Amino acid sequence: ESQVYQKPTLDDIINLDDFESVAKNTFSPKSWAYHSGAANDCFTRDENRDFFRRIWLRPAIMRDVSRVNTQSTLFGCKLDIPVFVAPVGAAKMSHEEGELPLARGAASSGIIHCISTMSSYPLTEILDQTPSQAFYQLYINRDRSKTEALIRLAEKTGKVKALFVTADLPVMSKREADERIKLDEGTQWINVAKDNKPTGEKKKSAGLAKANSSFIDSTLNWDDLRWLRNISKLPIVLKGVQRAEDARLAMRAGFDGIVISNHGGRAADTTPPTILVLLEIHRYCPEVFGKMKVLVDGGFRRGSDIVKAICLGASAVGLGRPFAFALSYGQDGVEHAVSLIKEEIETASQLVGMTDLFRDANPSYINTAGLD
Ligand code: FNR
Repeated sequence: ESQVYQKPTLDDIINLDDFESVAKNTFSPKSWAYHSGAANDCFTRDENRDFFRRIWLRPAIMRDVSRVNTQSTLFGCKLDIPVFVAPVGAAKMSHEEGELPLARGAASSGIIHCISTMSSYPLTEILDQTPSQAFYQLYINRDRSKTEALIRLAEKTGKVKALFVTADLPVMSKREADERIKLDEGTQWINVAKDNKPTGEKKKSAGLAKANSSFIDSTLNWDDLRWLRNISKLPIVLKGVQRAEDARLAMRAGFDGIVISNHGGRAADTTPPTILVLLEIHRYCPEVFGKMKVLVDGGFRRGSDIVKAICLGASAVGLGRPFAFALSYGQDGVEHAVSLIKEEIETASQLVGMTDLFRDANPSYINTAGLD
């Protein structure tokens, strides 16, 4: 007997996982493989999330927690909750209007959209949807003049408040789900705007990721920060830090921030869950937290996950797939996702005894005894 899947209304979506189930049931096989997939055996993708159950909360009771505040500022941007939309390419695979409703939903909900280099729409068209604040993610192009032009364009709009340079994918990883479903002529290029459309070979046998990544410059190294600084005055954030030594090097090189990230498990598989890397940095180079902003992404799905990261010194947390999935409901879906996660962050804060997340958060709310 065959049953027709009924897409639930937003009222029936009560957590971020519910959006993922909808995507699984409604996305094209290609789009589902692209979004849900990760590198090799997907160990890192899964562990990003699963590891939160090994980091325990230590609630302080008997405090007046009748009110709660979760606001903060980041690179001059106001955040209602410490969450940003992690850069995710090709949003047309989630919704026919791509990044446009994503940008509107992020702006109307008081969070920040980090726009991907690999967006379905040109940067300026996405920025037109947002009143004043966004971040812009860069994959450095082998043709450096193309990246330079994008940076100058981003800065000129006045809306981009920080540049995120992604460094965890100097070469394309092996994404098997994506690879198994061959590209057809329809999906090959339409989902990435021409700003960065790679030139050269178009391999039909490759997955979407591989076909679209041939422009990425694998020579990128620490000396390149100087080149970036000569182009732009914007804060520059290094995305993809996965070890304490690199956090320290980023600080010494003069980056304004880092994103602890393993690309949602889509870069090197069997790298540690990002919350564990945050703990490592906390332990081996705590000085970085005072010198630059430390952001983190990968597998954050619950308000309590986010509260844990803030207690361990993070300034904000990026969510990737949840927003790509929520986007299938357009702007309303994005707004609903933010309201769900906001409520969870508030409740988690109150349940551990905090009334002002950024004033009160500290490692005393975290128990990692089981890890030693
Ligand atoms: C990504 N990510 C990513 N990162 C980046 O710097 N530029 C990009 O264009 C993309 N594109 C992209 C597409 C898709 C479909 C996914 C799932 C991810 C990585 C992203 O910014 C972030 O690091 C992870 O998504 C965080 O993990 P979660 O929240 O998806 O578990």
